[in-house]
Amino acid sequence: MDQSEPYASLRERVIGERGVVMVMGTANTGKTTMSRLLLRDALDAGRSVAFVDADVAVPSVGAPACVSLRWVRSQADLDDLSRADSMRFVGSTQPQGVVLPHVVATATLVEEARKGADFIVLDTSSVVSGVVGQTLTYHVTELCDPNLIIAMQRGEELEPGIGMLRRFLGARIAKSEPPPGLQLVGPLEQRSRLIAAFRNAFEPDLQRWRVHSSVFAPTLPEAFDLSRLEGMLVGVLNETGACLGLGALEHDDGVVRVATRYGDQMRGLRLGSMRIDLDTYETSRVRLRQLIFGI
Ligand SMILES: Nc1ncnc2c1ncn2[C@@H]1O[C@H](COP(=O)(O)OP(=O)(O)OP(=O)(O)O)[C@@H](O)[C@H]1O
Ligand SMILES: [Mg+2]
Repeated sequence: MDQSEPYASLRERVIGERGVVMVMGTANTGKTTMSRLLLRDALDAGRSVAFVDADVAVPSVGAPACVSLRWVRSQADLDDLSRADSMRFVGSTQPQGVVLPHVVATATLVEEARKGADFIVLDTSSVVSGVVGQTLTYHVTELCDPNLIIAMQRGEELEPGIGMLRRFLGARIAKSEPPPGLQLVGPLEQRSRLIAAFRNAFEPDLQRWRVHSSVFAPTLPEAFDLSRLEGMLVGVLNETGACLGLGALEHDDGVVRVATRYGDQMRGLRLGSMRIDLDTYETSRVRLRQLIFGI
């Protein structure tokens, strides 16, 4: 491949597309690099452009465990995508247990993007296979209705999913291969990236706000033992359901506080499906139903 103009023929084809172009692939296949190239091409062609980042584990926009929208108006926007213009809380960096919020968050932000842009790139979760990955991909495709899907696959790893999306949803799919040098990312590397992403979402200027037990979604039952909230990841939401940023709960003798940078416009807290340690930024999975009802 000519590294100065990677994916030249595919990009030539995409430049005429309107609406949503979705990029799918497993971890480290070049999804985000492809997304940036497509955004740059569209920007250069004078299009109005938006990026929806639904990779909740390795976000290039916004916070982990959230889907984010970024308007891309200039090359400077493209050079630093980290600030989100709009965010929705999903609650976990893994899709297990949060497929519904993930799909709704993605569809909501794609809808918002359609109002202000005629070319939208959708970067997606690298969990694309297995029951959960296929269910997520299926419903994201169903609701976001991409005009074109770019499938970045090593060998034939995405073929089952590609077949499904074509058969049931009539999806148009262009296949591409990651550049030859790209290696799989090991679990240690994945873990340290996630820790860095969470650190960024909380630091600096973390503040603690006392919160009442009525501010949560889902609602807590009356006899709920508040100590179980210790360490829970939450989305700090405004009055429109948009996520301002992340928070983590702390419990001390019946008093619950949220540690967050986004307390001043907070209207409510959405419980996530993870616990987070604010010293190490290590996370672990929580089943919300088990947390709330003990089942
Ligand atoms: N066409 C390319 N030429 C050279 N390097 C590339 C190319 N595409 C991707 N890379 C490099 O490979 C690495 C992974 O690429 P990228 O982040 O785009 O993949 P991804 O699928 O989005 O990964 P993740 O699953 O972590 O989100 C990056 O370091 C990137 O710079
Ligand atoms: Mg990526």
